[in-house]
Amino acid sequence: MSDNDERIVSPHDVDDEPNLEQSLRPQYLDQYIGQNDIKDELSVYITAAKQREESLDHVLLYGPPGLGKTTLAMVIANELGVNVKTTSGPAIEKSGDLLSLLNELNPGDVLFIDEIHRLPKAVEEILYSAMEDFFVDIVIGQGPTAHPVHFPLPPFTLIGATTQAGMLSAPLRDRFGIVEHMNYYEVSDLQSIVKRTADIFNISIQDQGAIEVALRSRGTPRIANRLLKRIRDFAQVANKDEIDLEIVRYALTLLKVDSIGLDATDIKLLKTMIEFYDGGPVGLNTLAANIGEDADTIAEMYEPYLLQIGFIKRTARGRMVTSTGYQHLGYPNNFKN
Ligand code: ADE
Repeated sequence: MSDNDERIVSPHDVDDEPNLEQSLRPQYLDQYIGQNDIKDELSVYITAAKQREESLDHVLLYGPPGLGKTTLAMVIANELGVNVKTTSGPAIEKSGDLLSLLNELNPGDVLFIDEIHRLPKAVEEILYSAMEDFFVDIVIGQGPTAHPVHFPLPPFTLIGATTQAGMLSAPLRDRFGIVEHMNYYEVSDLQSIVKRTADIFNISIQDQGAIEVALRSRGTPRIANRLLKRIRDFAQVANKDEIDLEIVRYALTLLKVDSIGLDATDIKLLKTMIEFYDGGPVGLNTLAANIGEDADTIAEMYEPYLLQIGFIKRTARGRMVTSTGYQHLGYPNNFKN
C-alpha cells in the first residue's frame, strides 16, 4: 500500500477499515443500494440456479475500487445460502494453495478471489478445468516418482473481482458465464448509502448533509462511508446531535476535500498542467516529476477519477486539461480545448 492510500478520498481499502466495511455490509440484494441492473440480473440467475439445485455460473465482477465488489460477492453467497471461502490473487502463490482452498468446498459453495488479475499464471491454468469441468489434474512428486493425480471437485461458483478486466487472460475471462461491470454510483444512491450508514452508526443526518457527502465521494461508497465517519467526529465534538450541511461543509473543508471530492493533490496536478504546460499535452513522467509523485501513483490513484469526470483527457501526445477542468478551478477557458 502506498502513502497515497492515506488520502481520505482514496478508493482503496486501508488497514483499519475492514471492520468498518464488514459492519456496514448489506447481507441481501434488497439491502444493497444502487447497481440496479446488475442486481436485477443476478437475482434471476440466483433464483434459477436455486430452482435447479445447481451451482450458480461463475461470476466476474469488474470495475473501479471501492464500489462494493467484495460486498456483492458476499451477498450472492448469502442469497444462494452457501458458504464462501475468500482469498485474493496475490495470496495464492502456488498451485497447492489453490488446491487446498478447492478441497474445502462443499457442493454449491462460493470461492471468492479478489484481485483475480494478479493470480500467478500456473495457478490460473489450474482454474481452467476446475471452473469448466470441476476437476484438477496435477503432477505430484518429481523425477521418476512424478505421477499425475486427478482430483474431482464439487460443483462450485467462482466469483472473481478485478479492477482491471483487461489484464485477465482470455481463457480465464471466457470461463465466467456471468460478467458484470460495476459503475460509479449515482449521487442519489450514495445519499441512501450515507443515510443507511448513519443509521448503523446511530446518528441522524439531514438530507442536505447526506447529499453533500454524496457529492464529494467520487461516486464511491467506500469514500462516502469514510468521509461520514470523520464528519461524525466533528459533529460529536461540536455537540451536534444531528449532522447538518454546515458541519459537513466545515469538516470537509478542514479535510481539504473540495465540492466534487477533489483533494489537494488532484488540484495541484490540474494546476500544474494549466500553469506550467498551458493545459497540456504533457507526458505522465514529466508531470510526475513536476508534482513530486511517481508516475504509477498518478496513473492509478489520480487519473481515473479525473478522466471519469472529464477534467482531463488522454491524447497520443500526453494528458490535457479539458475546458470543464479549467472551469472548475476558476480559470478562463483555454482556446485549445
Ligand atoms: N455500503 C457500501 N456499499 C453499499 C451498497 N452498495 N449498498 C448498501 N450499503 C453499502
